[in-house]
Amino acid sequence: MKTIHTIAELRAQLAQWRAAGDRIALTPTMGNLHRGHLRLVEAGRARAQRVVASVFVNPLQFGPNEDFDRYPRTLADDAEKLAGAGCDLLFAPSVAEMYPHGRDGFTVVSVPRYADVLEGECRPGHFDGVATVVSLLLNIVMPDVALFGEKDYQQLLVIRQMVGDLHMPIEIAGVPTEREDGGLAMSSRNQYLAGDERTRALQAYAALQAVADGLRGGRRDYTALCDAQIERLRDRGFAPQYLVVRRPDLSEPAIDDSEFRILLAAFLGKTRLIDNIAVSTA
Ligand code: PAJ
Repeated sequence: MKTIHTIAELRAQLAQWRAAGDRIALTPTMGNLHRGHLRLVEAGRARAQRVVASVFVNPLQFGPNEDFDRYPRTLADDAEKLAGAGCDLLFAPSVAEMYPHGRDGFTVVSVPRYADVLEGECRPGHFDGVATVVSLLLNIVMPDVALFGEKDYQQLLVIRQMVGDLHMPIEIAGVPTEREDGGLAMSSRNQYLAGDERTRALQAYAALQAVADGLRGGRRDYTALCDAQIERLRDRGFAPQYLVVRRPDLSEPAIDDSEFRILLAAFLGKTRLIDNIAVSTA
C-alpha cells in the first residue's frame, strides 16, 4: 500500500487506475483507526477494485473548545492496519495541502436540513466543516463509491443530502456500527475514557436498548420514554446532551410510526460519546 501526501501525486495514481477501468472506493477518516474504520475499507473492497482511505484531522469541523489539538494522530499504525485490511492507497494530506490559503474566506459547504438539530445543535458549525472537507475529498478522489459509518448517523445523512443536492455522481454507502463486547460503539475517542469509565460507558448502549425495548413493547410516549433513560444516565454520572427517538430521516416520529432511529450523545467525564440504533416494529 502506498502512502501519498499531495493531491497532485494522488491524482496521477488515480488516473492510472481509472484508465485501467478500475472502480474506486473512498473511505474518509481522521485516523487512529479501529475495527469500525476497517469495516469501511472491507465494504469498499466488496464494491470496487481499488480502495483509497484518507486520514486527515480536519480543523474545520472542531469547535474552539473541542479536542483538535489532542485528537490522537497515529499515522504509521494506521498505515499498517489499512494495508492489512486490503487498502490500496492512503491519502494523508497536511492542513496546508488541503487549505493552502487558510480558512478565512474559504468556500463553505452547508447542509441546512441537518445543521441545527442534535449533533448540529450541540456542535455549531460542525457539519459545515464535515460537508466542506468531504466535498473536497470527493472532488479530489472522484470515487465511484464512498463509505461512511452508521455510527455517525446524522453525518451519513448530511453527506447523502450534499451529494444529492450537488449532483455528485457518487454512491454513498452506509456501514453498520462496529461494537466492543458489551455493545460500546468503537470510537477513536474511547481512548480518552479513564479508569472505570470504559465499563460505565456500556450504560450508554444500555439506555438505547431500553428505549428500543419500550418501542418494541408498544410505547409511543417518546419523550417520557427517553427522559427516564436520561435521568438514569444522570444518576450514573453521565452528562447527557440528547437521547431521542426520531424517524430514519431524523424528523419527529408520529404515533403510528414503525421505523425509528434512537440517537444519543452524552459526556462521561471528559469523553463525549455518541451512538444510535435502528428499531423496526413493523
Ligand atoms: P472518523 O471519526 O475518523 O470516522 C471515519 C468513518 O468511520 C466515519 O464514516 C465514521 O462513521 C466511521 N466509523 C467510526 N466509528 C465506527 C464504528 N464503530 N463502526 C462503523 N463505522 C465507524 O467521521 C469522521 O472521521 C469525519 O467526520 C470525516 C467523515 C472523516 C470528515 O472529516
